[in-house]
Amino acid sequence: MELPFDGAISSFYESEAPDPIRNAIQLADKGDIIDASYPYSERLNRKAYERDMAALQIEMVKLQAWAKESGARIAILFEGRDAAGKGGTIKRFRENLNPRGARVVALSKPSDTEQSQWYFQRYVQHMPAAGEIVFFDRSWYNRGVVEKVFGFCTDAQREHFFAQVPDFERMLVEDGVILFKFWLNVGRAEQLRRFLKRERDPLKQWKLSWIDVEGLKKWDAYSAAIRETLERTDIPEAPWAVVRSDDKRRARLSAIRHVLTRIDYARKDARAIGACDELICGGKDIWHA
Ligand code: ADP
Ligand code: AMP
Ligand code: MLT
Repeated sequence: MELPFDGAISSFYESEAPDPIRNAIQLADKGDIIDASYPYSERLNRKAYERDMAALQIEMVKLQAWAKESGARIAILFEGRDAAGKGGTIKRFRENLNPRGARVVALSKPSDTEQSQWYFQRYVQHMPAAGEIVFFDRSWYNRGVVEKVFGFCTDAQREHFFAQVPDFERMLVEDGVILFKFWLNVGRAEQLRRFLKRERDPLKQWKLSWIDVEGLKKWDAYSAAIRETLERTDIPEAPWAVVRSDDKRRARLSAIRHVLTRIDYARKDARAIGACDELICGGKDIWHA
């Protein structure tokens, strides 16, 4: 398969990436965490990850069974820069669930008809029915971040979005939807390292788009848009959970734990869930560029 931007990532890496970013990638060993502000210097080892993940998977199955029995509706949305690990995290949440009742919603860019509708309209129809868990891989928060960075919406449309989003989410929550909002926070060098890997991997190239390539040059614009979005949309009824995702394993475990600790499902085993790592998963204030 020929990609329109063949080699664009490595050429950015070689000639345009800031020196400290390129140097950090060059010096890093495979298992190293690059970001100096990350609370751990090494990735979680596979054994600990697999042991904890296996226990959490059992709890996820119980959560789904409870949702089906009780009619609970659960919506979990995932945001984050490209390559932050949204898809991979969703995959682990769903790994052992009955796919009927655990849907992923990953909408593509809005059609002309959708462009003319109320901005939230196309998301509303995907909200969970009784017993369902719906995973949003990106969401209405596109308007806060990628649409701002690439000029896909006007500033007036974005202001309108910020004015409406708290009410929109409050309506969902008041109606009984259990809503989680995850922001996956990945560092700049780690993001570039993942892009380089995707570019070389025929199984992962589909994840790259021209937005990723152009976005490489827009790190700071993204940072500003993300900071503003988190500030303006963190409400008590629907707070952000920021997950530091430079280590995918810790990030996945933390996200699943976050959900499980916050729902009182039947036959819950708090010891199996374990403690949330507050250095990895916290409120909006742990986000950093
Ligand atoms: P992803 O990372 O989700 O695989 P991209 O990085 O290509 O996809 O795009 C990021 C987001 O920007 C997607 O949700 C996509 O639908 C959205 N997007 C792309 N083009 C437009 C557009 N012209 N208008 C609005 N949103 C867009
Ligand atoms: P991944 O980022 O999961 O695609 O992993 C890429 C490579 O990095 C794999 O071959 C792993 O062996 C290694 N790796 C990824 N995560 C870890 C980790 N938490 N601990 C040790 N090695 C890792
Ligand atoms: C992303 O975050 O870019 C995607 O959802 C894919 C992933 O990294 O797993």
